[in-house]
Amino acid sequence: MTSAAPLVLGIESSCDETGVGIVRGTELLANTVSSSMDQHVRFGGVIPEIASRAHLDAIIPTLSEALRTAGVTLEEVDALAVTSGPGLSGALMVGVAAAKALALATGKPLYAINHLVAHVGVGVLDGGELPPRLGALLVSGGHTEILKINSLTSDVELLGATIDDAAGEAYDKVARLLGLGYPGGPVIDRLAKEGNGKAVRFPRGLTLPKFVGTPEAPGKHRYDFSFSGLKTAVSRCVEQYEVRGLEIPTADIAASFQEAVVDVVTSKAVTACREHGLENLLLGGGVAANSRLRELLAARCASAGIALRIPKPSLCTDNGAMVAALAARLVADGVAPSGLGFASDSGQPVQRISLAAS
Ligand code: KG4
Ligand code: ZN
Repeated sequence: MTSAAPLVLGIESSCDETGVGIVRGTELLANTVSSSMDQHVRFGGVIPEIASRAHLDAIIPTLSEALRTAGVTLEEVDALAVTSGPGLSGALMVGVAAAKALALATGKPLYAINHLVAHVGVGVLDGGELPPRLGALLVSGGHTEILKINSLTSDVELLGATIDDAAGEAYDKVARLLGLGYPGGPVIDRLAKEGNGKAVRFPRGLTLPKFVGTPEAPGKHRYDFSFSGLKTAVSRCVEQYEVRGLEIPTADIAASFQEAVVDVVTSKAVTACREHGLENLLLGGGVAANSRLRELLAARCASAGIALRIPKPSLCTDNGAMVAALAARLVADGVAPSGLGFASDSGQPVQRISLAAS
């Protein structure tokens, strides 16, 4: 290794973004992303086989572009890293195969990285070192979780997660119901500004006392999410207008749906932080771009005395720099690389921050 801060190249391919990022310690040198989103538009959601094929096409050009942007060569890199899970299996395999080939060809150490923890680790690239007593709220098209970060490189706990759809997935499905196209998040975010968020009181999933319990006797789903009932409620609401031949108040429904999502997401995250002594919260994932989520989370964190940190949007959506950033921390902390014997793990639990060599 040539300097104290390791030069790390990270590859991400867990969903529909092919990302290659290069960092030197906490300094971002390149973050090249190629998305196959356009190819999924007509299906209203990510089609795994299409995503996998798009990764195959994009991986080499994305890698070359990232190296060019960073102005470094593969020989100069100290370590390689790749998302091994969680994610779509076929999609993950493309990144993992590419990373193993690079590791084999160059002899560089390879780290198999947890995608969710990488969403947190990316925080070091925007705002510096992560504070202690840190929680994370991850909201995207593929995942919705609340994490407790005891140590970024050795101890991460899952406090809560969705038991059905992810928050972004709910946005995409509701946008489809309302005929707004894909992806649904940005368009609902925009339209909701013209509507009344209190027009329809949509259900807040898993907020009944039998699910949340009390601080002393927490219910099984105290910090968990569910969005499938909300999606059904929106569908029923739209039907009511249709059967009566009335014009659908799309903006009001979009605003009311959005209010239901951000209300439950922000209140559960703040409750989890408060009850676990977490004075800092990092927001990540594609839905972090949502204006109402940012507004309400900022307000609720401020009243609870929680410092909120939101990395810039290009670091919140799936990217390779987050994989490289977490791996750079693992290298710095002396964690052993994963070798070449590991397999991608579509259900990789959050506790497995990187895979151990087999
Ligand atoms: O992190 P991401 O780029 O990919 C993964 O799903 O992992 O997130 C994409 C998701 C989509 O579901 C999209 O609808 C949602 O993020 N999204 C938003 C907004 N922008 C993107 N959701 C709500 N409001 C937004 N402004
Ligand atoms: Zn993600």
